[in-house]
Amino acid sequence: MDRIKAAFVGCGGICNFHLSHLVQFDDVDYVGFMDIRPERAREKAAQVGGAPVFDTYCQMLDEAKPDVLYICVPPDQHGTIEFEAIKRKIHFLVEKPMALSMELATKIRDAVAKAGIITAVGFQDRYLDVIEKTREFLKGRQVGLVDGAWLGGIPGVYWWPTYATSGGQIVEQNIHLFDMLRYLFGEPERVYCAAARGIVQREGYDLHDYSSAVITFKNKVIATLFTGCYLGRNVPNKNGLHIRCADADIRYVLRQSVELDTGSYVEQHRKEIDQGVTEDRTFLDAVKTNNPSIIRSPYADACKSLALTLACNESIATGKEIVLD
Ligand SMILES: NC(=O)c1ccc[n+]([C@@H]2O[C@H](COP(=O)([O-])OP(=O)(O)OC[C@H]3O[C@@H](n4cnc5c(N)ncnc54)[C@H](O)[C@@H]3O)[C@@H](O)[C@H]2O)c1
Repeated sequence: MDRIKAAFVGCGGICNFHLSHLVQFDDVDYVGFMDIRPERAREKAAQVGGAPVFDTYCQMLDEAKPDVLYICVPPDQHGTIEFEAIKRKIHFLVEKPMALSMELATKIRDAVAKAGIITAVGFQDRYLDVIEKTREFLKGRQVGLVDGAWLGGIPGVYWWPTYATSGGQIVEQNIHLFDMLRYLFGEPERVYCAAARGIVQREGYDLHDYSSAVITFKNKVIATLFTGCYLGRNVPNKNGLHIRCADADIRYVLRQSVELDTGSYVEQHRKEIDQGVTEDRTFLDAVKTNNPSIIRSPYADACKSLALTLACNESIATGKEIVLD
Protein backbone atom coordinates (compact mmCIF):
# COMPACT_ATOMS: atom_id res chain seq x y z
CA MET A 1 0.00 0.00 0.00
CA ASP A 2 1.69 3.24 -1.15
CA ARG A 3 -1.06 5.69 -0.28
CA ILE A 4 -3.70 5.56 2.41
CA LYS A 5 -7.37 6.54 2.13
CA ALA A 6 -8.59 8.26 5.30
CA ALA A 7 -12.13 9.15 6.38
CA PHE A 8 -13.38 10.99 9.46
CA VAL A 9 -16.53 10.74 11.54
CA GLY A 10 -16.93 13.62 14.01
CA CYS A 11 -15.30 16.81 12.76
CA GLY A 12 -14.71 18.88 15.91
CA GLY A 13 -11.67 19.75 17.98
CA ILE A 14 -9.85 16.42 18.07
CA CYS A 15 -10.47 15.78 14.38
CA ASN A 16 -8.64 19.05 13.80
CA PHE A 17 -5.75 17.80 15.94
CA HIS A 18 -5.34 14.67 13.81
CA LEU A 19 -5.80 16.53 10.53
CA SER A 20 -3.08 19.01 11.50
CA HIS A 21 -0.69 16.03 11.58
CA LEU A 22 -1.99 14.17 8.56
CA VAL A 23 -1.54 17.20 6.30
CA GLN A 24 2.19 16.99 7.09
CA PHE A 25 2.31 13.54 5.42
CA ASP A 26 2.38 13.12 1.65
CA ASP A 27 0.77 9.68 1.45
CA VAL A 28 -2.77 10.43 2.68
CA ASP A 29 -5.86 10.81 0.47
CA TYR A 30 -8.92 12.33 2.15
CA VAL A 31 -11.90 10.32 0.97
CA GLY A 32 -14.67 11.42 3.34
CA PHE A 33 -15.84 13.60 6.19
CA MET A 34 -19.07 13.13 8.14
CA ASP A 35 -20.55 15.01 11.10
CA ILE A 36 -24.10 15.38 12.38
CA ARG A 37 -23.36 19.07 11.94
CA PRO A 38 -22.61 18.99 8.20
CA GLU A 39 -21.05 22.45 8.16
CA ARG A 40 -18.25 21.06 10.30
CA ALA A 41 -17.61 18.25 7.83
CA ARG A 42 -17.59 20.76 4.96
CA GLU A 43 -15.16 22.99 6.85
CA LYS A 44 -12.70 20.12 7.38
CA ALA A 45 -13.05 18.97 3.78
CA ALA A 46 -12.20 22.48 2.63
CA GLN A 47 -9.24 22.58 5.01
CA VAL A 48 -7.60 19.66 3.16
CA GLY A 49 -8.20 21.26 -0.23
CA GLY A 50 -11.57 19.63 -0.96
CA ALA A 51 -12.91 16.17 -0.16
CA PRO A 52 -16.27 14.37 -0.27
CA VAL A 53 -18.74 15.09 2.56
CA PHE A 54 -21.35 12.48 3.48
CA ASP A 55 -24.73 12.56 5.25
CA THR A 56 -24.22 9.25 7.05
CA TYR A 57 -21.18 7.26 8.05
CA CYS A 58 -22.54 4.05 6.50
CA GLN A 59 -22.80 5.81 3.14
CA MET A 60 -19.27 7.14 3.62
CA LEU A 61 -17.84 3.72 4.43
CA ASP A 62 -19.61 2.09 1.47
CA GLU A 63 -18.87 4.74 -1.14
CA ALA A 64 -15.50 6.16 -0.08
CA LYS A 65 -14.11 2.75 0.95
CA PRO A 66 -11.47 4.19 3.30
CA ASP A 67 -8.49 2.16 4.49
CA VAL A 68 -8.69 3.93 7.84
CA LEU A 69 -11.44 5.66 9.78
CA TYR A 70 -10.81 8.31 12.42
CA ILE A 71 -13.63 8.11 15.01
CA CYS A 72 -13.71 11.50 16.74
CA VAL A 73 -17.20 11.66 18.24
CA PRO A 74 -18.19 12.46 21.85
CA PRO A 75 -17.90 9.65 24.42
CA ASP A 76 -21.61 8.69 24.38
CA GLN A 77 -21.76 8.28 20.60
CA HIS A 78 -19.74 5.07 20.24
CA GLY A 79 -20.99 1.64 19.26
CA THR A 80 -22.70 1.53 15.89
CA ILE A 81 -19.91 3.47 14.19
CA GLU A 82 -17.30 0.95 15.34
CA PHE A 83 -19.46 -2.06 14.43
CA GLU A 84 -20.09 -0.66 10.94
CA ALA A 85 -16.34 -0.17 10.45
CA ILE A 86 -15.56 -3.64 11.79
CA LYS A 87 -18.18 -5.22 9.50
CA ARG A 88 -16.37 -3.69 6.51
CA LYS A 89 -12.91 -4.53 7.93
CA ILE A 90 -11.88 -0.88 8.07
CA HIS A 91 -9.01 -0.13 10.43
CA PHE A 92 -9.77 2.65 12.89
CA LEU A 93 -8.27 5.14 15.32
CA VAL A 94 -10.83 5.98 17.98
CA GLU A 95 -10.62 8.72 20.53
CA LYS A 96 -10.67 8.05 24.25
CA PRO A 97 -12.86 7.35 26.13
CA MET A 98 -13.93 4.70 23.60
CA ALA A 99 -17.22 3.95 25.41
CA LEU A 100 -18.99 4.73 28.66
CA SER A 101 -19.51 1.11 29.70
CA MET A 102 -17.26 -1.92 29.74
CA GLU A 103 -20.12 -3.94 28.29
CA LEU A 104 -19.91 -1.97 25.04
CA ALA A 105 -16.12 -1.63 25.05
CA THR A 106 -15.56 -5.37 25.46
CA LYS A 107 -18.06 -6.15 22.67
CA ILE A 108 -16.13 -3.83 20.35
CA ARG A 109 -12.80 -5.24 21.55
CA ASP A 110 -13.92 -8.81 20.82
CA ALA A 111 -15.35 -7.89 17.41
CA VAL A 112 -12.09 -6.12 16.50
CA ALA A 113 -10.11 -9.23 17.44
CA LYS A 114 -12.43 -11.47 15.41
CA ALA A 115 -12.21 -9.24 12.34
CA GLY A 116 -8.42 -8.95 12.65
CA ILE A 117 -8.41 -5.21 11.97
CA ILE A 118 -5.85 -2.73 13.25
CA THR A 119 -6.95 -0.25 15.93
CA ALA A 120 -5.43 2.60 17.87
CA VAL A 121 -6.85 4.65 20.73
CA GLY A 122 -5.94 8.32 21.14
CA PHE A 123 -3.62 8.02 24.12
CA GLN A 124 -1.20 10.48 22.53
CA ASP A 125 1.01 10.79 25.65
CA ARG A 126 2.41 7.29 25.13
CA TYR A 127 4.27 8.76 22.13
CA LEU A 128 6.00 11.55 24.12
CA ASP A 129 9.80 11.57 23.95
CA VAL A 130 9.95 12.57 27.64
CA ILE A 131 7.87 9.51 28.53
CA GLU A 132 10.28 7.30 26.57
CA LYS A 133 13.11 8.79 28.65
CA THR A 134 11.11 8.22 31.84
CA ARG A 135 10.46 4.57 30.99
CA GLU A 136 14.15 4.04 30.25
CA PHE A 137 15.17 5.72 33.53
CA LEU A 138 12.66 3.63 35.51
CA LYS A 139 14.19 0.34 34.34
CA GLY A 140 15.56 -1.54 37.34
CA ARG A 141 14.45 1.15 39.81
CA GLN A 142 12.13 0.51 42.76
CA VAL A 143 9.08 2.76 42.92
CA GLY A 144 6.89 3.11 46.00
CA LEU A 145 4.63 6.14 45.81
CA VAL A 146 3.37 8.23 42.93
CA ASP A 147 1.09 11.21 42.95
CA GLY A 148 -0.33 13.24 40.12
CA ALA A 149 -2.98 15.67 39.07
CA TRP A 150 -5.07 16.86 36.17
CA LEU A 151 -6.80 20.03 37.34
CA GLY A 152 -8.37 22.78 35.31
CA GLY A 153 -11.66 24.31 34.30
CA ILE A 154 -14.58 23.11 32.23
CA PRO A 155 -13.85 22.56 28.52
CA GLY A 156 -16.13 24.36 26.08
CA VAL A 157 -17.59 21.33 24.30
CA TYR A 158 -21.37 20.88 24.72
CA TRP A 159 -21.28 17.26 25.85
CA TRP A 160 -18.69 17.71 28.64
CA PRO A 161 -20.69 18.80 31.75
CA THR A 162 -22.81 15.64 32.26
CA TYR A 163 -21.95 12.08 33.23
CA ALA A 164 -24.37 10.72 30.64
CA THR A 165 -22.52 12.31 27.73
CA SER A 166 -18.89 12.56 28.88
CA GLY A 167 -18.53 9.94 31.63
CA GLY A 168 -17.16 12.62 33.97
CA GLN A 169 -13.74 14.20 34.17
CA ILE A 170 -11.86 11.06 35.27
CA VAL A 171 -13.18 9.03 32.34
CA GLU A 172 -13.07 11.80 29.75
CA GLN A 173 -9.92 13.71 30.66
CA ASN A 174 -7.76 12.32 33.40
CA ILE A 175 -7.97 8.92 31.70
CA HIS A 176 -4.74 10.11 30.05
CA LEU A 177 -2.87 10.02 33.39
CA PHE A 178 -4.58 6.82 34.54
CA ASP A 179 -3.43 5.28 31.26
CA MET A 180 0.06 6.68 31.80
CA LEU A 181 0.25 4.98 35.20
CA ARG A 182 -0.53 1.68 33.49
CA TYR A 183 2.05 2.41 30.79
CA LEU A 184 4.71 3.04 33.45
CA PHE A 185 3.76 0.63 36.25
CA GLY A 186 1.68 -2.18 34.78
CA GLU A 187 -1.73 -3.40 35.82
CA PRO A 188 -3.75 -2.03 38.75
CA GLU A 189 -5.21 -4.34 41.35
CA ARG A 190 -7.72 -2.09 43.15
CA VAL A 191 -8.89 1.49 43.41
CA TYR A 192 -10.72 3.70 45.86
CA CYS A 193 -11.95 7.13 44.83
CA ALA A 194 -13.52 9.94 46.87
CA ALA A 195 -15.20 12.88 45.15
CA ALA A 196 -17.16 16.01 46.00
CA ARG A 197 -19.02 18.90 44.43
CA GLY A 198 -20.23 22.34 45.51
CA ILE A 199 -17.77 24.79 44.00
CA VAL A 200 -18.90 24.73 40.37
CA GLN A 201 -22.28 26.40 39.94
CA ARG A 202 -23.56 25.84 36.44
CA GLU A 203 -26.90 24.83 35.03
CA GLY A 204 -27.07 21.32 33.63
CA TYR A 205 -23.72 20.31 35.20
CA ASP A 206 -23.83 17.07 37.21
CA LEU A 207 -20.15 16.12 37.50
CA HIS A 208 -18.00 16.02 40.60
CA ASP A 209 -15.83 19.12 40.97
CA TYR A 210 -12.87 17.15 42.29
CA SER A 211 -11.78 13.69 43.30
CA SER A 212 -8.86 11.77 44.65
CA ALA A 213 -8.20 8.18 43.59
CA VAL A 214 -5.85 5.77 45.34
CA ILE A 215 -4.74 2.98 43.04
CA THR A 216 -2.76 -0.05 44.18
CA PHE A 217 -0.87 -1.79 41.39
CA LYS A 218 -0.05 -5.48 41.20
CA ASN A 219 3.64 -4.58 41.65
CA LYS A 220 2.72 -2.74 44.91
CA VAL A 221 3.18 0.79 43.55
CA ILE A 222 0.56 3.03 45.18
CA ALA A 223 -0.54 6.05 43.18
CA THR A 224 -2.82 8.93 44.15
CA LEU A 225 -4.36 10.89 41.29
CA PHE A 226 -6.22 14.18 41.73
CA THR A 227 -8.83 15.23 39.18
CA GLY A 228 -10.58 18.59 39.27
CA CYS A 229 -12.48 21.00 37.05
CA TYR A 230 -13.19 23.79 39.54
CA LEU A 231 -10.17 26.03 38.91
CA GLY A 232 -10.82 29.49 37.59
CA ARG A 233 -9.06 30.78 34.51
CA ASN A 234 -5.39 31.70 35.01
CA VAL A 235 -5.08 29.86 38.34
CA PRO A 236 -1.53 28.47 38.19
CA ASN A 237 -1.18 24.71 38.41
CA LYS A 238 1.24 22.10 37.14
CA ASN A 239 -0.42 18.90 36.01
CA GLY A 240 1.59 15.73 35.70
CA LEU A 241 3.14 13.03 37.86
CA HIS A 242 5.62 12.90 40.73
CA ILE A 243 7.25 9.49 40.99
CA ARG A 244 9.19 8.57 44.12
CA CYS A 245 11.80 5.88 43.42
CA ALA A 246 14.02 4.40 46.15
CA ASP A 247 17.04 6.10 44.55
CA ALA A 248 15.55 8.94 42.52
CA ASP A 249 12.80 11.48 42.16
CA ILE A 250 10.95 11.95 38.85
CA ARG A 251 8.90 15.07 38.11
CA TYR A 252 6.90 14.89 34.90
CA VAL A 253 5.09 18.04 33.78
CA LEU A 254 2.23 17.07 31.51
CA ARG A 255 3.22 17.20 27.82
CA GLN A 256 6.13 19.52 28.59
CA SER A 257 9.11 18.12 30.44
CA VAL A 258 10.58 15.62 32.85
CA GLU A 259 13.24 15.93 35.53
CA LEU A 260 15.08 12.74 36.43
CA ASP A 261 16.78 13.50 39.74
CA THR A 262 19.10 11.07 41.53
CA GLY A 263 20.27 13.53 44.14
CA SER A 264 23.76 13.58 42.64
CA TYR A 265 22.66 14.65 39.16
CA VAL A 266 19.50 15.95 37.51
CA GLU A 267 18.64 15.23 33.89
CA GLN A 268 16.21 17.79 32.54
CA HIS A 269 14.40 16.99 29.32
CA ARG A 270 11.95 19.20 27.50
CA LYS A 271 9.57 17.77 24.93
CA GLU A 272 11.22 17.98 21.52
CA ILE A 273 8.93 16.05 19.22
CA ASP A 274 5.21 16.44 18.56
CA GLN A 275 3.70 13.28 20.04
CA GLY A 276 0.52 13.73 18.02
CA VAL A 277 2.45 13.49 14.76
CA THR A 278 4.16 10.33 15.98
CA GLU A 279 0.83 8.89 17.14
CA ASP A 280 -0.80 9.38 13.73
CA ARG A 281 2.27 8.35 11.72
CA THR A 282 2.54 5.17 13.78
CA PHE A 283 -1.10 4.26 13.16
CA LEU A 284 -0.80 4.82 9.40
CA ASP A 285 2.49 2.91 9.22
CA ALA A 286 0.96 0.03 11.17
CA VAL A 287 -1.80 -0.19 8.56
CA LYS A 288 0.51 0.28 5.57
CA THR A 289 2.92 -2.41 6.73
CA ASN A 290 0.29 -4.58 8.42
CA ASN A 291 2.26 -4.36 11.66
CA PRO A 292 -0.05 -3.54 14.58
CA SER A 293 2.74 -4.23 17.10
CA ILE A 294 4.09 -0.66 16.72
CA ILE A 295 0.84 0.86 18.06
CA ARG A 296 1.31 1.82 21.70
CA SER A 297 -2.38 1.82 22.57
CA PRO A 298 -4.43 -0.76 20.66
CA TYR A 299 -8.14 -1.05 21.53
CA ALA A 300 -7.73 -4.13 23.76
CA ASP A 301 -5.06 -2.46 25.89
CA ALA A 302 -6.98 0.81 26.11
CA CYS A 303 -9.95 -1.13 27.50
CA LYS A 304 -7.93 -1.71 30.67
CA SER A 305 -7.46 2.04 31.18
CA LEU A 306 -11.13 2.61 30.54
CA ALA A 307 -11.99 -0.10 33.10
CA LEU A 308 -9.79 1.62 35.69
CA THR A 309 -11.49 4.99 35.22
CA LEU A 310 -14.98 3.47 35.22
CA ALA A 311 -14.00 1.67 38.45
CA CYS A 312 -13.24 5.12 39.94
CA ASN A 313 -16.78 6.20 39.07
CA GLU A 314 -18.13 3.02 40.65
CA SER A 315 -16.09 3.66 43.78
CA ILE A 316 -17.42 7.23 43.98
CA ALA A 317 -20.98 5.96 43.60
CA THR A 318 -20.71 3.10 46.10
CA GLY A 319 -18.16 4.47 48.56
CA LYS A 320 -16.31 1.15 48.22
CA GLU A 321 -12.89 0.07 47.05
CA ILE A 322 -13.17 -1.69 43.68
CA VAL A 323 -11.11 -4.77 42.90
CA LEU A 324 -10.13 -4.94 39.24
CA ASP A 325 -10.09 -8.14 37.17
N1 LIG B 1 -6.70 12.34 22.74
C1 LIG B 1 -6.84 13.56 23.20
O1 LIG B 1 -5.91 14.16 23.73
C2 LIG B 1 -8.18 14.23 23.10
C3 LIG B 1 -8.29 15.61 23.17
C4 LIG B 1 -9.56 16.20 23.01
C5 LIG B 1 -10.68 15.39 22.84
N2 LIG B 1 -10.53 14.04 22.80
C6 LIG B 1 -11.70 13.16 22.67
O2 LIG B 1 -12.24 13.25 21.37
C7 LIG B 1 -13.64 13.09 21.40
C8 LIG B 1 -14.28 14.28 20.71
O3 LIG B 1 -13.87 15.46 21.37
P1 LIG B 1 -13.86 16.88 20.61
O4 LIG B 1 -13.13 17.80 21.52
O5 LIG B 1 -13.41 16.72 19.23
O6 LIG B 1 -15.42 17.24 20.66
P2 LIG B 1 -16.20 18.23 19.67
O7 LIG B 1 -17.52 18.46 20.28
O8 LIG B 1 -15.30 19.38 19.35
O9 LIG B 1 -16.35 17.37 18.34
C9 LIG B 1 -17.18 16.23 18.26
C10 LIG B 1 -17.88 16.27 16.92
O10 LIG B 1 -18.62 15.07 16.75
C11 LIG B 1 -19.88 15.40 16.15
N3 LIG B 1 -20.80 14.31 16.43
C12 LIG B 1 -21.50 14.08 17.57
N4 LIG B 1 -22.20 12.92 17.47
C13 LIG B 1 -21.93 12.44 16.23
C14 LIG B 1 -22.37 11.29 15.55
N5 LIG B 1 -23.18 10.38 16.11
N6 LIG B 1 -21.95 11.11 14.27
C15 LIG B 1 -21.11 12.01 13.68
N7 LIG B 1 -20.67 13.12 14.29
C16 LIG B 1 -21.05 13.32 15.56
C17 LIG B 1 -20.25 16.74 16.75
O11 LIG B 1 -21.18 17.43 15.96
C18 LIG B 1 -18.89 17.44 16.82
O12 LIG B 1 -18.61 18.18 15.64
C19 LIG B 1 -14.01 12.96 22.88
O13 LIG B 1 -14.16 11.61 23.23
C20 LIG B 1 -12.82 13.54 23.61
O14 LIG B 1 -12.61 12.95 24.88
C21 LIG B 1 -9.32 13.45 22.90
